[in-house]
Amino acid sequence: MIYIDPPYNTGNDFVYDDDFSQDKDEYITGSGQLDEQGRQLVQNPESNGRFHTDWLNMLYPRLRIARDLLSDDGVIFISIDDNEQENLKKICDEIFGAMNFVGELVIKTATDNNPSQINTEHEFMFCYAKNKHLQRKWICMSESAIKIMDYYDLLKRNNDDEKVIQDKLRKWIKANKSELNQVAHYNCVDNKGVYSASSNSSNPHPGGYMFDILHPTTGLPCPKPQNGWRWTEKTFWEYANNGEVEWGIDETTQPHIKKRIETATEILRSVIYEDNRGTTKMLSDLFDGKKVFENPKPLSIIKKIVNYITSVDDIILDFFSGSATTAHAVMQLNAENLAQMAIGDDYRYAPPKRKFIMIQLPELTDEKSEARKAGYKTICDIGEERIRRAGKQIKEELQKKNDENKQLALKNNSKFVLPRFKLDIGFRVFRVDSSNMQNVYYAPADFKQEQLELLADNIKPDRTPEDLLFQVMLDLGITLSSKIDETHIDGKKVFSVADGYMIACFDTDITEQTVTEIAKKQPFYAVFRDSGMASDSVMTNFEQIFETYSPKTVRRVL
Ligand SMILES: C[S@@+](CC[C@H](N)C(=O)[O-])C[C@H]1O[C@@H](n2cnc3c(N)ncnc32)[C@H](O)[C@@H]1O
Repeated sequence: MIYIDPPYNTGNDFVYDDDFSQDKDEYITGSGQLDEQGRQLVQNPESNGRFHTDWLNMLYPRLRIARDLLSDDGVIFISIDDNEQENLKKICDEIFGAMNFVGELVIKTATDNNPSQINTEHEFMFCYAKNKHLQRKWICMSESAIKIMDYYDLLKRNNDDEKVIQDKLRKWIKANKSELNQVAHYNCVDNKGVYSASSNSSNPHPGGYMFDILHPTTGLPCPKPQNGWRWTEKTFWEYANNGEVEWGIDETTQPHIKKRIETATEILRSVIYEDNRGTTKMLSDLFDGKKVFENPKPLSIIKKIVNYITSVDDIILDFFSGSATTAHAVMQLNAENLAQMAIGDDYRYAPPKRKFIMIQLPELTDEKSEARKAGYKTICDIGEERIRRAGKQIKEELQKKNDENKQLALKNNSKFVLPRFKLDIGFRVFRVDSSNMQNVYYAPADFKQEQLELLADNIKPDRTPEDLLFQVMLDLGITLSSKIDETHIDGKKVFSVADGYMIACFDTDITEQTVTEIAKKQPFYAVFRDSGMASDSVMTNFEQIFETYSPKTVRRVL
C-alpha cells in the first residue's frame, strides 16, 4: 500500500526547484535554502504563472513511479483538498486508469476560520488500485466492537460476576450509544465474553428447517418461526451444547444463536469525521509539549486505512512522509494486533510484521520555528525522531498491557498466553547519495594521469564499509531491512546479512584465513572489494578456496 499526503498547493506549502534564480545564489546558499543538488527551493505563490503546472510537474513523475512500485494487488491513497483535487483526479485517471479508481473518502477535519462564502470543512482522499479487479472485499474488525471488548476487559478486572459485568457494560454502552451505534446490540455477557442475542433464528425465506426445540428447563417446545429455523437440528444442538445458544426464561421465547462480538466487522465508509486538534496535541505531547510540525495527518485515519488494505506482512510506503504519521500508524497497528494475539488463547493470527518506507525531502525547518529551536534542522530530522519516540511509547504501552493481562489471568486463575512474537520497532535511515564508485571516463583522448591513478581504487575514498554494503544489498535485491550481523575475522570487519545469505568484507589486506572462514560459512553470495586482497597469492587462491569449501557460492567483487 502507498499513502501520500503531498503539499496541497495552497500557495505556501509546496517547495520546488527554481533554476531561474541563479543571480541570487549567494544569498540563497548563505541562508541554506538549497536542495541536495544545490538548487534553490522556493514556495509556489499563486501569482506564479505556472502555479498548477509546477505542482503537477512535481507530482506526475512521482505517481508514475508509485504505480510501478505497487504490487499487483496494491492500492494507493492520496490526500488532497479543493486546490488541486480536480487536477489530481485527471493525472491519476491517466496514470492508474479510470477503471482502477476505487473511490474517494471525504474527511471532515478542518474548519475554515474565515469563510467568505462556503465554510469548507472537509478534504479528500482518493483511492486507486493497481488492478481493481484483484481487490478482495475490504472488511475489518469493527473498531467500536474493539472499544466494547476493551471496556469488558476493564470490568473483568474487578472480579465481578457475569451479571454485574453485564449490567455495567449495558449502562456504559447506553451512555456511549452515538459512538457505538453499529454494535450497541452486543450487550450480553457470559463466561466466554460479550455477545449479541438479537440474531435472527428464522430462515430468511419460506422452506427453512422444521423441527421441535424443547426448552431445557420446561421441556416444552419453543415457537417455530413461520419460515422455519435457519439451521439444521444437528447444527443447532452443536451450538447449544457449546453454550452458544441464548434461551428465554421458558419455552415462550425463541432461542437464538449467540453472535460473538469478535465477529463484528466493519466496512470502509466514504465519510470520516475526525477532530484534528487531538492529532496535533498527540504529536506535541510526544515531543515534550513542543509543536514541531504543522498539520500532521490524523493517526487514527491512516491506521484505519492501513488496517483495511494490508495484511500482516505488507509494506507501506509514504513518499511525502513529513512527521512520519504513516510509520507511527503502522507500528501502532502491529502493536494492537499483537495485543489481540496475547488475549486470544488460540494462535489463529499470523504475527503482524507490516513494514514501512518513509521518504522525505531534506526540507529545512523555518529558522524561527519551534522545531528548529528544538534542534530539528530538517523535516527528515523530525520524522526520524518521531519514529524513535513513537516506537518506544508503543512498545512500553504493549508491555503494560501484557503485564495487566498477566495479572488478570493470575487473579482469575485463567490461562495467559505470552505473545510469541516481539514488536519490531527498529528502522534504518538512509540518505540518497551519489554512486560509491569513482567516476572514470573511458574515452582514451580524455585519459588523464589522475584518472589512471583512480583506477588503482575504484571506490571513492570517503565511502564507509556500510555505504558499500547497502549498495551491494540494493544491487543484489536484498531488502534494506534485512538483519545484519557484524563480526571480525582475522582483524577484518565482516558483515553477515540475512543470517548468512550474503557475507561481505570491504576491508583491504584480506588474508587467506579471512577468505577461508567466509567460504566455510557457505553463503549464497560472498562479496569483497576488488582491491581487497592482501597479495597476489590470496587473489590466486581465492577461487580455489571457494571451490573447496563452498563451490555454489556466488562470488562478487566491487
Ligand atoms: C503535508 S506534508 C506531509 C505530512 C505528513 N502526512 C504528516 O502527517 O506528517 C507534505 C510534505 O511534502 C514535502 N514537500 C514539499 N514540496 C515537495 C517537493 N517539491 N517534493 C517532495 N516533497 C515535497 C514537505 O516537505 C512535507 O513534508
